[in-house]
Amino acid sequence: MAGMFSQNFIEKVIDASDIVSIISEHTNLKQSGPRYIGLCPFHNEKTPSFTVNGDKKLYYCFGCQRGGNVVSFVMEMFKYSFPEAIEYLAERANIPIERVNTFDDNTAYVRKKRLFQINKDAANFYYLAGRKNEKAISYIKKRGVSASSLKTFGIGYAPGGRSVLYSYLKEKGYSDKELIESALVRKNETKGYFYDYFSDRLMFPIQNVSDNIVAFGGRRFDNSQPKYLNSPETSVFVKHATLFNLNRAKNKLASKPLIVVEGYMDVVSLFDKGIENVCATLGTALNAEHAKLMMKYTRNIILCYDADEAGQNAAMRGLGILVSQGLNPRVLTLEKGEDPDSYVLKYGKEAFEQKAAEAKYSTDYKIDYYKNRYDLSDIVQLAEFTKKACEAAAETRDEIKWDYYVKIISSLTGTDPLVIKKQIYKSSKYVSAQSDSNIEDSGNMINISVPQQSKSTSAELIALKYILKGQSYFERFVSLGGDKSLFSNEDAADLYDEIKRLYEENGNVDISNNLVYNNQLAQTVVSVDNAQDISSEGHLKDIIKTLRLSLYEGRLRQIKKRIDETEKNCGKVDAALLKEYGYLKKELIKIKSEVNII
Ligand code: GTP
Ligand code: MN
Repeated sequence: MAGMFSQNFIEKVIDASDIVSIISEHTNLKQSGPRYIGLCPFHNEKTPSFTVNGDKKLYYCFGCQRGGNVVSFVMEMFKYSFPEAIEYLAERANIPIERVNTFDDNTAYVRKKRLFQINKDAANFYYLAGRKNEKAISYIKKRGVSASSLKTFGIGYAPGGRSVLYSYLKEKGYSDKELIESALVRKNETKGYFYDYFSDRLMFPIQNVSDNIVAFGGRRFDNSQPKYLNSPETSVFVKHATLFNLNRAKNKLASKPLIVVEGYMDVVSLFDKGIENVCATLGTALNAEHAKLMMKYTRNIILCYDADEAGQNAAMRGLGILVSQGLNPRVLTLEKGEDPDSYVLKYGKEAFEQKAAEAKYSTDYKIDYYKNRYDLSDIVQLAEFTKKACEAAAETRDEIKWDYYVKIISSLTGTDPLVIKKQIYKSSKYVSAQSDSNIEDSGNMINISVPQQSKSTSAELIALKYILKGQSYFERFVSLGGDKSLFSNEDAADLYDEIKRLYEENGNVDISNNLVYNNQLAQTVVSVDNAQDISSEGHLKDIIKTLRLSLYEGRLRQIKKRIDETEKNCGKVDAALLKEYGYLKKELIKIKSEVNII
């Protein structure tokens, strides 16, 4: 929908918006040089870590790492979509809204609108059929769904004929081509007739976050397979990036976490009992796309899967994905044999909310998970457990919490707290290995309140800052051997790609207009802004060497791991791998002897 405005118009609106005064309406800002500092409007804090750069028109919070330009601020603050944010800013700046009106009947936009309309008509059809069909009525009653939830979710019934829905939609004037595109109808190519995709099923309309119906899930009544059938993917439905009921749940997240369950009926029953901050994946495992979608609305997630082994493993995987995307997940575990639907029907709302309040934070859940799987009286397993537990503790950025986990892990394992502390530091992405030695000195980790960037991360940011200065700087970087492979941080590599593309296409990079649409890039841009400047040609060369060094070291670690693994399994180590290992070792020695690494 961003295509509704021209790039020109969008730029005009951003230029006319004063980020400092807009943000000032939501938090008190104090000026300090070109920057403004205040309490972050997006998370609770007592000391300010939120910064606004009026010149660059960017904001960034060192606490919650939200950042971006004035558009992303408005999107985040008001939970607006991109076009809504642009409209809001245009109105504030008294700029008349200009829409690009070039949509003819064939544009993607119009076609999508038609698909939404087909799905809506189909949902109405199913809903009415569901109120008349005895089997559906008695099934719904058996599952304890109230009339009001039936209506809210539009739960319906797909009749058992061959082409009942098809005939209905044809009468409404849709073409065969459109109906095939909606995936609600299929064609038997040999016999030439059209038939309904869903037949004799209880129907759950699936909406996107803008409330448009994009697909359906259909549950069987008997023992036929599959138990649930989802619409195939269409141009408006990407299954692994859709969360059932997020459109309603997203409005309940100001003070509540988002509860993620597995099934449609789990959502419906919880909602029915007044727990509306709940959504479900559509029969696929939780993935990074889901996480990014959730992140638009909240960072506080509670995973609520089945209590069996499969459910616990799914929770472990889910935690990994959510944490690596920067979310703050917890896990709610129900009694064995229950799912959220059966639990809330049996024990009620308060009991479920009590469970939710006791949900375990990621690190605690992981430590428990490993504790139940390792025999701590066996020295080898104890060591393995200690390592895993420290890794789990290291995933949190808050070193104050580390102190707490140091105590827990050392009392569980009987290991010296200092050893645990060191191990956590070693596992952390946020603290450079060099600060190891600080641990003994300070004795108290609360002293180390700002996580240190590792040398390679800070070199990546310094390099990006340098190439952002202009095309000739970029070319200088490339001529000294700089390229994308040197950026091991994914966000930094993405930003490098984008900068390269912009220089190739435009010959320049306009930070506030080119780079800040994408929230992820915008965050990197802000970190880059805070990086050190390159002072000389020699400095630049050193930075490139530092990057190359860490690239080689990373690759060496990978190879070493593979060699170790092969040897452990008594396999034969690949000769090419050994050769690369030797080569990298030699190169490393060469680079190290050449420079004073910064
Ligand atoms: P009920 O039996 O209706 O309570 O469903 P449930 O949610 O308890 O069942 P289950 O744990 O088996 O399934 C959880 C979710 O996985 C469902 O809501 C579906 O989204 C998905 N699912 C289950 N079975 C199938 C299937 O056979 N095919 C597909 N594609 N998805 C399924
Ligand atoms: Mn169930």
